Amino acid sequence: MTLFVTGGAGFIGGNFIHYYLKQHPDDRVVCLDKLTYAGNISTLSPVMDNPKFRFVKIDICDRKAIYKLFEEETPAIVVNFAAESHVDRSIENPEIFLQTNILGTQVLMDACRKYGIQRYHQVSTDEVYGDLPLDRPDLFFTEETPIQTSSPYSSSKAGADLLVMAYHRTYDLPVTISRCSNNYGPYHFPEKLIPLMIVNSLADKPLPLYGEGLNVRDWLYVADHCRAIDLIIHEGRVGEIYNVGGHNEMKNIDIVKLICKELGKPESLITHVTDRKGHDMRYAIDPTKIHNELGWLPETKFEDGIKKTIKWYLEHREWWETIISGEYQNYYEKMYGNRERVR
Ligand code: NAD
Ligand code: TYD
Repeated sequence: MTLFVTGGAGFIGGNFIHYYLKQHPDDRVVCLDKLTYAGNISTLSPVMDNPKFRFVKIDICDRKAIYKLFEEETPAIVVNFAAESHVDRSIENPEIFLQTNILGTQVLMDACRKYGIQRYHQVSTDEVYGDLPLDRPDLFFTEETPIQTSSPYSSSKAGADLLVMAYHRTYDLPVTISRCSNNYGPYHFPEKLIPLMIVNSLADKPLPLYGEGLNVRDWLYVADHCRAIDLIIHEGRVGEIYNVGGHNEMKNIDIVKLICKELGKPESLITHVTDRKGHDMRYAIDPTKIHNELGWLPETKFEDGIKKTIKWYLEHREWWETIISGEYQNYYEKMYGNRERVR
């Protein structure tokens, strides 16, 4: 059986490919990735020589090239991770988010319709539900929570989700969607909170915390997300949405303090800077459905996962040092150079 994994040179897609090839050694995995700034071919170097793996540099918006690859490979399952994924970048330039996240999804699903497919799986996010108030810890996102997005990023992901469900209803395409909370772990691009704070701490650079740092995210170790997707594509019900999260809510400031502690760095590195525009306050997933239907539960506790993650960054300096030595410097200057220190 051949599986297409789009966006497999990115953070979660890369982890998924490593996970999947170990779990299903008889299946073939073809990775489709455009290699944007967020895609790193070195993330896939451990599997490049695996005869069951093929890498194809391709844009999911390139209909002709995508159709050609479907014709050549006839995949049984497509898992779509490919996306522009960073909220701050979407605030600066929304257009590419709409192109890749919505139109790219459309091209993939059109190819699935044309060539036939057992399953199309859309990797979505809890951010499509908007945010929850800090003073209502009793509230969680369920699959029935209305879509109410805040950022251009989450809006583009929500647009794609609507289209996926429309392709199911209109064309009977066998789809599933997973909406996961914030992931952390190896190969995470250092523009996102956890790897950014690790990398800056190691260089004794300021740790830019937006506003008061009281925003809450529900963190999940990336391998637990990979296992959830594996279960959904094989055992999940067609046409269904599954929320994925591990009841691990933490304030940003507590995460950053923990990273300082683990690395033996002073908390004085923490610098409160101008808040993100439209900043979501709290995300919290109710994972009852995936637990009841598929028996999924997270396996990695945050205290272990964060230690493993920090250890990985200490042992894989070359991976992230290569990233931050290039174009990343311009990005960093643009995003943080003018961000005012608020205290
Ligand atoms: P990422 O930014 O690390 O990786 C995205 C990958 O997609 C990169 O390899 C990039 O080169 C590729 N890509 C981008 N545009 C492409 C295009 N047009 N054609 C082909 N490839 C393209 O993202 P991530 O954090 O690994 O997220 C993967 C998916 O999971 C996304 O769809 C995201 O919305 C979703 N998600 C992420 C999180 C999280 O915490 N990171 C949580 C829930 C859901
Ligand atoms: P991020 O990793 O960008 O994920 P998302 O916005 O998709 O949840 O950010 C996680 C939280 O960390 C979010 O509340 C914004 C905050 N944050 C900072 O305080 N400073 C930073 O430099 C970054 C990148 C994020």
